[in-house]
Parts: sequence; structure tokens; C-alpha cells
Amino acid sequence: MLLEDRVAIVTGGAKGMGRAISVRFAQEGAKVTIADVDMPGAEETLSLVQAAGGQGLVAKCDVTNSGDVREMVAATVSAFGKVDILVNNAGAVVGAQGRPTNLEVLAEDAWDRVVDLNLKGVFLCSKEAVPHMKANGYGKIVNLSSLGAISPPSPHPHYHAAKAGVLGLTYDMAAELGPHNIYVNAIMPGPIRTPFFDEIVATKTPEETAAFFAMIGGMAPLGRMGEPEDIAKAVLFLASDMSSYVTGAVLPVTGGLPLPRQN
Ligand SMILES: NC(=O)c1ccc[n+]([C@@H]2O[C@H](COP(=O)([O-])OP(=O)(O)OC[C@H]3O[C@@H](n4cnc5c(N)ncnc54)[C@H](O)[C@@H]3O)[C@@H](O)[C@H]2O)c1
Repeated sequence: MLLEDRVAIVTGGAKGMGRAISVRFAQEGAKVTIADVDMPGAEETLSLVQAAGGQGLVAKCDVTNSGDVREMVAATVSAFGKVDILVNNAGAVVGAQGRPTNLEVLAEDAWDRVVDLNLKGVFLCSKEAVPHMKANGYGKIVNLSSLGAISPPSPHPHYHAAKAGVLGLTYDMAAELGPHNIYVNAIMPGPIRTPFFDEIVATKTPEETAAFFAMIGGMAPLGRMGEPEDIAKAVLFLASDMSSYVTGAVLPVTGGLPLPRQN
């Protein structure tokens, strides 16, 4: 097992990639804190973690709220004694402005909410977890950016700017924390079939939805959309000692995008 005796925090663990990461970590021997605002979803993930033979903890935590984050990290240390791994996964394009929105009509409050969730949340959770990692002389932080940070497929200026900010924060943290044996890397997912897409396809018929997903998957050289488990495997690599000389790296998990398909 790759994560035996490790303690991990996964933000946004109630569904999608965060759920797949939590379950995969449990299968590899980690104890997992599932930190989310969606309590029923987080409890469901906890059941899956336990069914995989693992131990877990659900923490109600809005990653944009420093008080929530402090309590969530404290609850983890109180239950499991330490923090080895932090996966900053919580993120989304939220609200009505989740739909493609050109710069000129993007509302200021939508900008603030999306940048807070996708960028400030990474800062707050890392700031709170790092002292515990330093105390143990070991840490693995994995941040979820997006392919949209470098190749935006649709107009979401707030989201793409925040995800590009996650890359800058990853590089800075890796440089600062390397001497403390704390590794900081980022994953850059391409299109992954998670509830993230529910809002996008909400108004479509089943046929239109199938055609939409086939169209998106067909753009990638590998010819399909990604699954949450594809991301969980990449996060496992960066969260385990398999990546023993990797820090400050950005790993695209995109099916080959943005390379154009040649056939
Ligand atoms: N799905 C994709 O195609 C895709 C592509 C690129 C990047 N990403 C990024 O990957 C990450 C995971 O995406 P996903 O598709 O699994 O998303 P998802 O919408 O399926 O799950 C996101 C989770 O984050 C939680 N969350 C939302 N706001 C929160 C908050 N303030 N505090 C704590 N938790 C909160 C939600 O409750 C949910 O459980 C996100 O950062 C997303 O931006 C997704």
C-alpha cells in the first residue's frame, strides 16, 4: 500500500474527483478527512472510505472561511495525530455566472466568489496544514488547477484566472517549503465526467447530453473524457513517495488536450 499510516485531508471530498481521491487513498492505507460544505455527500464518501477498509472523518468546512479551515485541520490532528497530505480539490464555477460569461458582463461579486473558492481556499487550507507538516518534517500538497488555466475552452475569466493563480501559488509554495521536505505539486485536469458538468448539461435532453459528452471526449487524442479515477491515480502518485524527487510540477491529466487530434 502506498499511503500506509498517512493522514490526508481532501477538500471537496463529497463528490466527483474528491470522492474518488478519498476512496483511492483509503484503499492505499491512508486515514482521510473529507472536508466539504455538502454534509450528505461527505457522509456518503465516508461510507465508501469505510467500505474500502479505511478510516475517515467528515468535517463541515467552507474552504473560503478561515475559521472553518482552522477547525477542520484541528479536528484532523485531534482524530489522527498529524497531517501528511493535503489535496486542495474544492473548486467550481458557481452560481448563475457558472455559465460562459464574457468579461464585460461578469459581475464583480461572481468574480470574488469564484476567485475565493478556487484560489483563496488553496491558500487558507495550506496555511493551516503546513505548520503540522513542518512539525513532522514531511508533507505532500496537491493542488487542483485546470487545463483552462492555460487553454480556456469557454469564457470563464474568473475561473481561469483563479486556476492560473493556483499554478503560481504551487510554484511559490514548492520553492518555500522544499527545504522542509514538503512537496507541492499541481494537477491540471482536462474534461472529467463529474457532477461539475451537471449544471452545464442541466437543460439538455439525454440524447443531447450524450452527444455533448461524446463531442468533448472526441476532441482529446485519447478519444474520451476523463473519469474521476483517472485523476485519483495521478493525485496518488503526487501524494505518495512514488514522486520522491518531484516538486513544483504541474501534471496535465487531459487525455492529450490541448494537442489537436490528427485523425
Ligand atoms: N470536472 C472537470 O472537468 C474539471 C476540469 C478541470 C478542473 N476541475 C477542478 O477539479 C476540482 C474537482 O472538480 P469536480 O469536477 O470533482 O467538482 P464537483 O463539483 O464534482 O465537486 C466539487 C466539490 O467541492 C465542494 N465545494 C464547493 N464549494 C466548496 C467550499 N466553499 N468549501 C468546501 N467544499 C466546497 C462541493 O460541495 C463538491 O463536493 C475542482 O477544483 C475543479 O475546479 C474540474
